[in-house]
Amino acid sequence: MAINKPRGTEDLIGVDALTWQYMKDVADSLFVTYGFAPIEVPTFEQTDVFVHGLGTSTDVVRKEMFTALSPDAFAKVSTGGASELKAAQHLSLRPEGTAGVVRASIEHGLVAQGGQPLKVWYAGPMFRAERPQKGRLRQFHQIGVECLGAEDPATDAEVIIMFMRFIEQLGIARDSVRLIINSMGDQACRPAYRDSVSAYMYEHFDELCDECRVRADTNPLRAFDCKNDRCREVMDAAPRISDALCDDCRAHYGQVKAYLDAQGIAYEEDPRLVRGLDYYTRTVFEVQVIDGLGAQNAIGGGGRYDRLVEVSGGRPTPGIGFACGFERLVLAMQACGAELPTPVCPDVFVSVAEPECASKAFSITQELRDNGFVVEADRQGRSLKGQFKLADKLGAAKVVIVGPDELAQGKVKLRDMGSHEEELVDCDALVDRLCELLGCDCGCDCEGEEGCCCGHGHGDGAGDGTKG
Ligand code: HAM
Repeated sequence: MAINKPRGTEDLIGVDALTWQYMKDVADSLFVTYGFAPIEVPTFEQTDVFVHGLGTSTDVVRKEMFTALSPDAFAKVSTGGASELKAAQHLSLRPEGTAGVVRASIEHGLVAQGGQPLKVWYAGPMFRAERPQKGRLRQFHQIGVECLGAEDPATDAEVIIMFMRFIEQLGIARDSVRLIINSMGDQACRPAYRDSVSAYMYEHFDELCDECRVRADTNPLRAFDCKNDRCREVMDAAPRISDALCDDCRAHYGQVKAYLDAQGIAYEEDPRLVRGLDYYTRTVFEVQVIDGLGAQNAIGGGGRYDRLVEVSGGRPTPGIGFACGFERLVLAMQACGAELPTPVCPDVFVSVAEPECASKAFSITQELRDNGFVVEADRQGRSLKGQFKLADKLGAAKVVIVGPDELAQGKVKLRDMGSHEEELVDCDALVDRLCELLGCDCGCDCEGEEGCCCGHGHGDGAGDGTKG
């Protein structure tokens, strides 16, 4: 029986797997310059972590969470005993990363009172039971950051700028995306604003779709995201948060914009940007691809969540972060012709001319790898001609030919795969010769002299395990 992957999931194979790794590498080297360190939290949590964190009326919590049950819990549920499950037995696959990081920060006391903010980034799979379509999966991958403990608007600007730099470093052209920002207010001004939107929706109740009629009561701001054309028209004329911000929120938002302006970061303000999760307060932002991604055009988004830690059982602690979707970033990279990583070609292919040379060839292969070269060899019993063909197919720059006559003199043949020229090289001098020929990638200009800064002692044969 052929078993296929579950609907809405993707296998990351070849270029996709390389691109995922590449994106994490870009994130790692960029985010550290802003003081962010990696964190890993579980892919499943107690369901309450998400319910309290994201909000009971959000689509994610209401309709999109995958439940994870232990065999015991499953047995109970399947025999009608779901109500007997303890809170700790209600588990869900994470639909996003923020709630889990906040849970971990509380559990381990990671934000000391009066201490440095916690600045962390993560990369991994997230799970949402949505209807799959282009750019919308049930298992997708996010790269996200969270900063807990800083309320200063400079933090908001830094996080947004870091996000924009990340996109630029992936080769996504700045003019192919738009950065949208808004302030959603706080506890002081949002409740009254929410009520005014709800009242407005009740005035237009007959014009709204069924779902927005429910939202008018449960979560009126979500109606700004409704895809129904009539609801959109109605909500276009709804009260604007920009007219309802309290003085503190207005000042905070004004300073975020001033920092962005000073750094030349172009943005559009959209008072209808509300984001899909309930934890947001004040600054929210989203980066959308202008063309080519269809309905799922948000490659990432985030915002401030100054009450989430408290709501989740911790001390009042402000927070801000963002997450971007790997699969949508790849679509955006493809749409604007950004370069995707390609497989690494071997520097050297070690071939065996006669079977009795196999063991020496094996040692040479290891020695070259220990010196940092990317080395391949045949493990399927090909003829010498077949080995050359394979080396060519793999794109190897050089082939070492290990033959009995040369070995008798303590030498091997070294063949250039471009010119097909061959030279005899002492086995002991092979590493140095390859260093000379293939160059050292450490960026210095020593041209293979002894004592190179890369650590390989060009000329003395005493490598430290790296060619550059
Ligand atoms: P989010 O907007 O729900 O925010 O998701 C962030 C990004 O994940 C989206 O912009 C999109 O690129 C990607 N994404 C979401 N759902 C899917 C899906 N079903 N298929 C493919 N990609 C998807 C959050 O998750 C927040 N935790 C972000 C955040 C961090 N806010 C503060 N800190």
